[in-house]
Amino acid sequence: MTEHLTNLKHWSKVARRQPRYTWLLRAELASYFIRSNDVVCDLGAGGQGIRSLLPESVEYIPVDCVREHENTFVVDFNKEFALPDRPFNVILCLGLLPYLDDLQGFFENLSAQQSGKFILFSSGFAKDGQTNRRVKNEFNSVEEGLEFFSRYVENLTTVAQIHKERQRFLFSGTLGTSGNNVAPITKRSLSELVNSNENNRRRRFSRTPMAKRFRFFY
Ligand SMILES: C[S@@+](CC[C@H](N)C(=O)[O-])C[C@H]1O[C@@H](n2cnc3c(N)ncnc32)[C@H](O)[C@@H]1O
Repeated sequence: MTEHLTNLKHWSKVARRQPRYTWLLRAELASYFIRSNDVVCDLGAGGQGIRSLLPESVEYIPVDCVREHENTFVVDFNKEFALPDRPFNVILCLGLLPYLDDLQGFFENLSAQQSGKFILFSSGFAKDGQTNRRVKNEFNSVEEGLEFFSRYVENLTTVAQIHKERQRFLFSGTLGTSGNNVAPITKRSLSELVNSNENNRRRRFSRTPMAKRFRFFY
């Protein structure tokens, strides 16, 4: 494994500015999975774009390698694995995985320590000539990625392709080590979720209908 230094200066700037439009779209999609009584631990929270989209009753615990926002639990996952010593039942990993040196070690720790918790995470597949040298962990194919994640996530569900040209997806599942079996890709209706969730006006970030923004698997 090549030693990589997390670019803290870069991430401080990122955390201070408004999250990118595409990150907010991703945040809105993720927000529909979160219920009003959930406690959310957001790994790589950055500018915390999702926070204002969640019902006010949701408890939100931001985790990041930089302390730009109050109450952030600060940890650099490229140096150590640590999580807040507080109860939470939902874990978010939106846009974090490409910046981790040791993805396997990260998921081993996460699934062992947080087994049974609901996780929403994004990941990219099929190297597509990325020029950004900071980005890592793009799997060679979707199959390769699914095989990897299903070692640590049960009921692995492909929610949507979240980038029009690139193979980037949002996944949901439950953390836990169930062996090496590739989980079937189950299809979940987002419309069901959207309709069953309360406070959805707050969650809506963009007026473009979801179906036009993302490719859903249902
Ligand atoms: C692409 S941004 C995504 C931010 C946010 N999740 C969103 O979707 O708007 C990646 C985030 O991961 C954080 N990050 C990068 N490397 C990290 C590391 N080694 N340990 C902890 N956080 C890290 C950055 O500070 C940044 O907030």
